[in-house]
Amino acid sequence: MKEIPQERCTAYLIFVVIVSALGGFLYGYHTGIISGALIFLAPIFQLSIVEQGVVVSTILIGGVIGGLFSGTLADRIGRKPTIGLTALLFIIGSLATALAETYSGLLAGRFLSGLGVGVISVAAPLYLAEISPPRFRGAFVSLYQGAVTIGILISLLINYLFAPSQDWRWMFAIGSFPAVLQAIALFYLPETPAWLFKHGRDHHAIHTLAKLRKDTTWRHQIDVMKESASTHKHGSWSALLSPKLRYLLLIGLVLSSFQQLTGINTVIYYAPKIFQQAGVSSATGAILASLGVAIMNVLFTFLSAWLLDRLGRRLLLMIGVVGMAATLALLSLAFFLHSTQTDLIVLLSLMGYVACFAIGLGPVTWVFLSEVYPLKVRGKAMTLAIVANWGFNYLVALTFLDLIVKLKPEGTFLLYAGICILALWFIHRYLPETKGKSLEEIEKALLR
Ligand code: BGC
Repeated sequence: MKEIPQERCTAYLIFVVIVSALGGFLYGYHTGIISGALIFLAPIFQLSIVEQGVVVSTILIGGVIGGLFSGTLADRIGRKPTIGLTALLFIIGSLATALAETYSGLLAGRFLSGLGVGVISVAAPLYLAEISPPRFRGAFVSLYQGAVTIGILISLLINYLFAPSQDWRWMFAIGSFPAVLQAIALFYLPETPAWLFKHGRDHHAIHTLAKLRKDTTWRHQIDVMKESASTHKHGSWSALLSPKLRYLLLIGLVLSSFQQLTGINTVIYYAPKIFQQAGVSSATGAILASLGVAIMNVLFTFLSAWLLDRLGRRLLLMIGVVGMAATLALLSLAFFLHSTQTDLIVLLSLMGYVACFAIGLGPVTWVFLSEVYPLKVRGKAMTLAIVANWGFNYLVALTFLDLIVKLKPEGTFLLYAGICILALWFIHRYLPETKGKSLEEIEKALLR
């Protein structure tokens, strides 16, 4: 039997993947660092409760606005320069926050970082999907999510390390170092072949593919790549409303919204608060418990990266949301029964919940969004899905503390469990499988 040649990566491709995934690290770090820093900012800047909320959520507003421009930027100036722009935003944003002397200075710094976070959440997955061989695409794009989780974990550790000296300025300033590294390394990265073909730079695209791949299977696909790029040169916003694309757009929007509406950021932003409610009284206990949760997030995201191209996107998503629903129901029960064991059950179920998010909705949402749209509208469709993602992120963060008062923790977590069941139905019913196909094959299959 003739053996099918396997796609193989060069060391250079691995380098390219790591540098671009660094964007995820910056995303995680900049969103995570505020929870620890806020404790010191509040008395120094004499912030009211409302002002504290504004400091926390400014990054999310920046995220929505940055997300809004990201796709157009990535289509116009290229994927790589767009990532470069985010590195700059992260450098300026973290330094501005670190040097802030006033409340408005703080907000300006956080807003700039927010723009970076919004733009990178489109640009990095897009870039990774377009430089990956199909066999590794799931793994490479989910490395981006892996980097997000490492960024969150490191931000918690930095919070913990700098807390005794109360040095909040360093907490923010440190966020500029990886961005500087990335900005320098970006000089050695290529533009994606898909973007180059789309802009008529075929020679350059072929040269890039030869550098990224050890195998030669891609040589047989050049015509398909070119065709996919050239027939789609002028993808406009209105093209998204054609019946087939409208359907795909809707699936992406709903999946991206479910990633937030199932409540992950209540845990990421408010874990210590939840532990306090469960009866963990010491601050150190609450911080250590939060670290445990963040570590689970990292470990299971990498497990998912390993499984994605083997088991497929749909199965992992379904396993993930079922697990999230079950652990949320357990969490709700623990708060409802309130016994001496509540704190332990809460810790275990939160760890389980985050692990299940990390197996499914965490990475697979980004993988799916980056591969399901045809090249002509890829940037624009992702933009809309990401704006929905940031919008619901903001909504959940804004309403959680209120919900805990109105519905009590047990009611609140039960609500999120219900949303997980809805997500399961939606995934089972509507989500197409995209494992192992080239982006051009997916385009053909879905738009037939
Ligand atoms: C989500 C973020 C979340 C993070 C946690 C990302 O995929 O978009 O909102 O904070 O995962 O790991």
